[in-house]
Amino acid sequence: MILYDAQDKTYTLHTKNTTYQMKVWDYNILLHAYYGPRLSGGDLSYPLRCADRGFSPNPSEAGTSRTFSLDTFPQEYSTCGVGDFRLPSIELELPSGSRTADLRYVSGEVRRGKYGLEGLPAFYGGEEEWETLSILLRDAAAQVEVELLYGVREEYDLITRAVRVKNAGNETVRLCRCASLCLDFVRSDLDLITFNGAHVMERCPSRAPLRPGVQSVDSVRGASSHQHNPFVILCDRDANEDSGLCIGAMLLYSGNFLAAAEADQFENSRLVMGLNPYHFSWTLEPGAVFTAPEAAMVCSPCGFGQMSRQFHKAIRKDLIRDPWAGRRKPVLINHWEATEMYFTADKLVKIAQDAPELGLELFVMDDGWFGARLDDNAGLGDWFVNENKLPGGLRALVDRIKALGMEFGIWIEPEMVNEDSDLYRAHPDWALNVPGRGPSRGRNQLVLDFSRQDVRDHIYGQIKAVLSSADVSYIKWDMNRSLTEVWSAALPADRQGEVYHRYVLGVYEFAERLRRDFPHILIEGCSGGGGRFDGGMLHYTPQIWCSDNTDAVDRLRIQYGTSFCYPVSTMGAHVSAVPNGVSKRITPMETRGVVAMHGTFGYEMDLSKCTPEEKETVRRQTAFFKEHCDLIHDGDYYRLSDPFRNGPYTAWEHVSHDKREALVSLVTGPFRGAPPFLTLRIKGLDPALRYRVNGEGSWSGEVLMQVGWPLPILRGDYQALQLYLEAE
Ligand code: DGJ
Repeated sequence: MILYDAQDKTYTLHTKNTTYQMKVWDYNILLHAYYGPRLSGGDLSYPLRCADRGFSPNPSEAGTSRTFSLDTFPQEYSTCGVGDFRLPSIELELPSGSRTADLRYVSGEVRRGKYGLEGLPAFYGGEEEWETLSILLRDAAAQVEVELLYGVREEYDLITRAVRVKNAGNETVRLCRCASLCLDFVRSDLDLITFNGAHVMERCPSRAPLRPGVQSVDSVRGASSHQHNPFVILCDRDANEDSGLCIGAMLLYSGNFLAAAEADQFENSRLVMGLNPYHFSWTLEPGAVFTAPEAAMVCSPCGFGQMSRQFHKAIRKDLIRDPWAGRRKPVLINHWEATEMYFTADKLVKIAQDAPELGLELFVMDDGWFGARLDDNAGLGDWFVNENKLPGGLRALVDRIKALGMEFGIWIEPEMVNEDSDLYRAHPDWALNVPGRGPSRGRNQLVLDFSRQDVRDHIYGQIKAVLSSADVSYIKWDMNRSLTEVWSAALPADRQGEVYHRYVLGVYEFAERLRRDFPHILIEGCSGGGGRFDGGMLHYTPQIWCSDNTDAVDRLRIQYGTSFCYPVSTMGAHVSAVPNGVSKRITPMETRGVVAMHGTFGYEMDLSKCTPEEKETVRRQTAFFKEHCDLIHDGDYYRLSDPFRNGPYTAWEHVSHDKREALVSLVTGPFRGAPPFLTLRIKGLDPALRYRVNGEGSWSGEVLMQVGWPLPILRGDYQALQLYLEAE
């Protein structure tokens, strides 16, 4: 619910459990008044006090009054160079050369439904569920208008934000910074949690108290990155899974981003999130509009668990567009870890042969099927089938796979090119590079200039022809390097600051075209695993390969970190062979299955090399997953322990919405002598219901939650256990 109080000049956004308020203050400055647990109403700006503070200047309209400063009040969308010295949200370069921005409230409008964003991913939904608030701000001197957009999804406690900047004057203006979210607090005793890592170890949480000054995470790699995720949490110092105030903020963007928090001199704090100003500038001709990507916030008054569950529901229902919505997705087998690029059609069919009988339903052909792709030195950019590997073309292979009773999926990496390719030989200027420099190689490949329509059209045409040549139901879209030498031959010198963002817009346009032309195809995103795991890509690719690290023990941590924002159904996770390719660790097949079920679930191995016992395990696992897939992918998710604490086990749980079913999964750590007697307290049950556990006994929800379930002593390293609870 969005309310405007004309007397108090407040806009109040209510969700089921939270309230957000902004207020039009003196001189039409828009202040942020409150974000926290739901309140019944009123003007929540009353604690804000005017005071004369040294070195905090006063707006020109204040005359000689010294008690009002932009520097001391919480701002709804911070400005630049006009008296607020904290993190700016916007920075303009004016025709005079000045780099300032000063915004004043003009008007606001509330309407039903959800705003959309041109060419950018955004949450969506109908008039029943969503409301939009549009606030117009104006910089009179610069003749620039800023529209602040808010989408309210009450049921999920979700508030989305986006910003449009319009040049309403007659001269060209340049936008040098444009955040999507600015969130001020009149306190700084908060912790900041960020999700960091590297290739093969993504999204590990890091928590630290805010300290004076700016602390930030970002990406300048052209993709959202393995290193830092565009999702952060600000929370009470003592917040945990079940209690404490926490606010999660995600940016729906797949390129360079910045998430920065600042604790200021008066122990206030600010979070700013949006496009990274690094190498960014956007020319706005008179009348032109720039749209910043969407950000989304969930505030939970009772801990991280509730925050995550709200994000999960919102992402599943209102962000992802899934061709398989309402249907169980096929359990897949991918051959990458078994063969890498070294395969023939016969080899693939051999791997696929036993798969249907083991319960697998989709075969995914990974990297290596196109052009002169014998290794990673050649082939990218030439999207036609290598008939030496696949005689008779794609159709012949797909027919053989389909004859086994399986669907077929294919790997692509449309944004990349090898120098050893027909494409690069014909169009070297289609790769990003700076004149006079040698391009940096990453995995022996260069990045195509996806900011260019002609480049995208060419690649799209090739890929469309391949997809149209056979019955393909799944695509894995990979991206295996970061962007360097970011310069486009298609833009003039004074517009090179647009290339990073135009590249991302190009990726979105390409993805949207694929979705439109092949609406039945499920697309899995991937960037060397989880290098582009963000809310932006999820709008186009309903699932994303979580990490190139398939080691079950490392995956416990990667998937745990990922779960703070993203639902289990979006996390690409497979059972692979041991010793694991990354860690060389040997874990039981049971454990690998339980961990991969904390995701999309599939296999990534040569099934023809499995022992009869292993095949029996695969059969059991696929049957179990299919039976409980709805519960796992659609249920409420609970983290029961933190794998980074090196406790005796890592446990998590899925609970059905009616609380009549739950699945608890647990993996132990390395075995140690004299193991303790452990009891696991289960969460999210109905205290009044009685449950059977793995088909036996009768236990009240209340007892299982308060007293817990006695765990058996599991001998051996990294053992797994699953408890299926069903109400009587
Ligand atoms: C990186 C991906 O994450 C892998 O799963 C695999 O598809 C390779 N790329 C192929 O090059």
